[in-house]
Amino acid sequence: MNWRALFKPSAKISILALLIIGVVVGVVGYFGTQQTLHATSTDEFCMSCHSNHSLKDEVLASAHGGGSAGIVVQCQDCHLPHNPVKYLVKKIIVSKDLYGYLTIDGFNTQEWLDENRKEQADLALKYFKGNDSANCQHCHSRIYENQPETMKKMAKRMHANNFKKEEDKRKTCVDCHKGVAHVYPKG
Ligand code: HEC
Ligand code: HEC
Ligand code: HEC
Ligand code: HEC
Repeated sequence: MNWRALFKPSAKISILALLIIGVVVGVVGYFGTQQTLHATSTDEFCMSCHSNHSLKDEVLASAHGGGSAGIVVQCQDCHLPHNPVKYLVKKIIVSKDLYGYLTIDGFNTQEWLDENRKEQADLALKYFKGNDSANCQHCHSRIYENQPETMKKMAKRMHANNFKKEEDKRKTCVDCHKGVAHVYPKG
């Protein structure tokens, strides 16, 4: 039997079943054991599906992978919300990835990532643009006010000018800073 057929979009029942499994796993993980959810928030968990992708190496090679501060920022620090309810909701959305993992041909290959990098990057950026880069601001809490002495003049000026604008006209971190952890594709 071709097990992939089970997951074909025409097999609506399977999609529904997957969704239900996703919700149940999420809810059980959340209310049952915080630990389950915790386990799904490690780099290892993310890399279990993305194991052949250069994502982790890219983080390590970036300023977020050690640099002069010796800090390795974890996938979830940037990609998942801190608020528990939103966290749960995003987890359930992430479980669309489970479906994608089973159905996208050649997903876990570097070739696939290279070919689809722009599209995937822009999908990822939607999350940051949708919450004013809250994950970035969680760590970088002194970008706009009480800026550190050591911050470059040009950075201070750019940030201050942005902050002076009305809220809905302001840019968010990732509008100006792309590719802070992975290489953002040109073009
Ligand atoms: C079950 C396998 C699986 C796991 C586990 C997984 N991913 Fe993914 N991920 C995928 C697939 C498949 C895609 C492509 C989805 C698509 O385009 O439909 C993807 C795409 C992405 C994207 C780009 C698209 C978007 O919607 O933002 C990001 C960012 C991402 N994953 C981050 C993570 C992080 C962070 C973790 C760990 C918390 C993680 N992934 C765990 C399978 C997985
Ligand atoms: C877990 C905390 C943390 C998170 C989350 C985080 N950063 Fe950072 N970031 C750091 C640290 C620490 C450094 C300094 C590294 C060093 O100097 O070695 C840094 C450095 C930077 C730099 C300067 C180096 C460079 O690459 O140009 C920029 C810009 C930056 N971060 C932007 C962002 C943006 C944008 C986000 C959200 C997508 C983000 N950061 C998320 C901790 C974090
Ligand atoms: C309007 C564009 C713009 C926005 C919005 C913006 N930045 Fe910057 N940022 C810059 C520029 C330009 C620099 C200086 C060039 C450089 O160092 O790469 C800079 C520098 C930095 C640096 C390095 C500072 C240093 O002295 O090394 C960090 C960290 C940083 N930004 C984080 C952030 C974070 C986090 C946000 C969101 C809260 C943000 N920026 C929003 C344009 C922007
Ligand atoms: C410092 C914050 C940060 C960390 C740490 C981080 N990412 Fe990302 N990630 C981003 C941003 C921002 C984007 C959007 C595209 C861009 O600007 O490069 C992105 C994009 C992605 C994409 C879409 C494809 C691409 O390359 O753009 C995937 C998949 C992804 N991240 C997975 C991961 C995984 C897995 C980890 C942990 C090994 C991780 N990320 C760690 C900030 C981060």
